Amino acid sequence: MLDLLIKRGLLLTLKGKKRRGFNIDLGIQDDCDIAIKDGTILKIGKNIEEESRFRIDARGRVVIPGFIDAHTHTLFGGARLDEFEMKIRGLSYEEIKHRGGGIINTVEKTRALSEEEMVDILRKNLKKMSRTGTTTAEVKSGYGLNYETEMNMLRAMKDFTEDWIDIVPTYMGAHEFPEEKTRKEYIDEITTRHLPEVASESLADFCDVFCEDGVYGKKEARRILSKAKELNLNLKIHADELKESGGAELAGELGVTSAEHLIHPSKKGIKLMKDSGVIAVLLPTASFILSEGIPPIEEFRKNGIPMALGSDFNPGSSPVSSMSLVIGFACYHYGMTVEEAIAGATINAAYALKRENRIGSIEEGKEADLLVLKYRDYREIPYWLGNNPVKICIKCGRVSFEREND
Ligand code: NIG
Ligand code: FE
Repeated sequence: MLDLLIKRGLLLTLKGKKRRGFNIDLGIQDDCDIAIKDGTILKIGKNIEEESRFRIDARGRVVIPGFIDAHTHTLFGGARLDEFEMKIRGLSYEEIKHRGGGIINTVEKTRALSEEEMVDILRKNLKKMSRTGTTTAEVKSGYGLNYETEMNMLRAMKDFTEDWIDIVPTYMGAHEFPEEKTRKEYIDEITTRHLPEVASESLADFCDVFCEDGVYGKKEARRILSKAKELNLNLKIHADELKESGGAELAGELGVTSAEHLIHPSKKGIKLMKDSGVIAVLLPTASFILSEGIPPIEEFRKNGIPMALGSDFNPGSSPVSSMSLVIGFACYHYGMTVEEAIAGATINAAYALKRENRIGSIEEGKEADLLVLKYRDYREIPYWLGNNPVKICIKCGRVSFEREND
C-alpha cells in the first residue's frame, strides 16, 4: 500500500544532469501520477492505480520539487528597523556600518540568546519559509563571532529536528571581525579552535567566509577555507558582493562548491569558476535591497556556470523568506528566464548544497519533497510577484500544510 498518490499533475520533474544556464529543460510530464512510499518517490507514470492511504487530485495544477533555499542567515536575534530607515533614506552600506548598523548590531542581540531561544527563533523563521514552499534551507552561523555563540548557533541547528523542513548547516564564523579582538587573534581562534570543533562534532556541512574588501581579504579567506578543507568540510564563499574583491578568483582556485552573491566578479574569476565547476548562488532580493548592481548573468550563461538561488534571509540586506519572491526577483530584476529561476530554486540549489542525489528533482528514488501549486502555468510563480504559489506542501511524503480556498 502506498502512503500518498498524487494524480494527474503537470509535473516539472527537473530530471537529469546538472542544470546549466542555457536552454534549461524542466522535464515536463503532463497528466502524470506520483506514487510515494516511506518518504520516497516510488514511481512516476500515467494511470497508476495502486491503493494508497492518501490521494491528491492535482488535475490542472503544476507540481514541482520543494524549493531549496541555498543561502540563508535564518538564525539571528532581533531586527534592524533603524538601519532599514537609513537605507531607504539613501545611506550606503558603509555609512550604515559606521552608524552602528550592519552585522555587528545583530551579533550583540544574538550573543544574548540561549540555545533554546535560538531553536525557537529557527522554528519561527523556518515556519515562514516552509509556508511559502521551502523544504530544505541552508543556514549559516556567523552572528556570534566568538567560540561560544558560534557553536551554540550550530548546536541549535542540530537540535532542530522538525519533520517539515531540513536544515543544511554552514559554519560562518568569518562573517565579520569581533570588536574585542585583533584580526590575527580572531583568525587564529577560527583555525585552531572553531573549525576543529565544528569538524570533530560534525556541526556543519560547509564553511563559508565573507571575502570582501573591508571584511576578510583574499589571503585571510584563503587561510580559513584551506584549514576547513583540510578538516574535510565543504566550502562556500561570499564573493564580490559589494565590489570586486578577488572572491570569485579564490572560489575557482580552491574549487569551492559554490560562490555566492557575485555582483562584481572579475572576468578572470568567472573563468576560474568555470574551470573548477563552481556553482553561482545568486541572491536577487539582497542585491535589489542593497542597490549595488546585478550579477553578470549573460557571462554565467556563456560560460555554462550553473546558477542557484537563495533568499539570503537575514535582518540587514534581505529580510525575505519566500523563495517564490526570490524567483520573481530573479526574473524581473536579473532577467533570468523562468526556467533558469525554477532550476535555480530546485535542482541547482540541491547541487549547491551537495544534496543532488536526494532532493531537487522529481525522480524515482528521491525524497518526496513536492509542491502542488495553485497555478496551471509555471510562469505564474514569478509573474504574480509576492503571491504564495503553494496549495499543498509535501515534505518527505507527508503533507506539511495545505491552503484552503486556493
Ligand atoms: O549575505 N554579506 C554578508 N552577509 C549578509 C548580510 C548579513 C547582515 O547584514 O546581517 C549577506 O548579505
Ligand atoms: Fe549572505
